[in-house]
Amino acid sequence: ILKALTPQDLAGKKVLVSLGPTREYFDAARFWSNPSTGRMGACLAMAAWLRGASVTVVSGPVSWWFPADVTVVPVTTAGQMHEACLAAWPACDMAVMTAAVADFSPVPHPGGGKFKKDAAGKELTLTFSPTHDILAAMGQKKRAGQKLVGFCAETDNLLENAKGKLRRKNCDLIVANPIGRADAGFAASDNEAIVLAANGRDEHWESAPKTEIAWKIWDSTIRF
Ligand code: CTP
Ligand code: CA
Repeated sequence: ILKALTPQDLAGKKVLVSLGPTREYFDAARFWSNPSTGRMGACLAMAAWLRGASVTVVSGPVSWWFPADVTVVPVTTAGQMHEACLAAWPACDMAVMTAAVADFSPVPHPGGGKFKKDAAGKELTLTFSPTHDILAAMGQKKRAGQKLVGFCAETDNLLENAKGKLRRKNCDLIVANPIGRADAGFAASDNEAIVLAANGRDEHWESAPKTEIAWKIWDSTIRF
């Protein structure tokens, strides 16, 4: 019924949404991660589904409910998310990458299994190696007609950093969120955003529910 009442302006479109955090294990029991809940991505996936798109969700370890005809690819690590997103991307018309991908992955503790705290001594030192930038890799592989939307979380210099990411990652649109405040960003139900388009246009969106922001992101992506 909801779908019947919604304009089907994404009918015939294949869209990809990445969401949630990734987990980078450094022994059998412990991982490095971040507080992303995947809410923004879940709102985007549901909005696209309501508007008639064929939706694929590459989901980090969070659990959101999706209709049965949404394809959900569950992943844990940045490496797995990279593989799943790049596999899905060639068949898609649009992708919105909301996942909070770990930028670094700890080098696993030697010996495998769960290491003992006594063996670490007074302090624990981990060595990290960089993960693949999934959005940048998708930007490199982008074909004519495909639309790629990135997110960008910043505590400082939001606009400047967002512009750099838009260009570097070959996105059509970047949605930049201020983080480090209680009322927006990670885990919040509302989000404030500056939206930058590759054609130089930018818009400031006042804080609004993520359901509403999601709707506007698809509007902008179609329009672009
Ligand atoms: N991203 C990604 N793969 C990564 C890191 C980030 O696909 N390994 C994507 C995110 O999903 C987001 C965009 O890149 O859409 C920007 O993420 P952000 O963390 O803001 O930027 P980074 O390029 O990782 O730079 P930094 O964290 O240093 O600000
Ligand atoms: Ca990052």
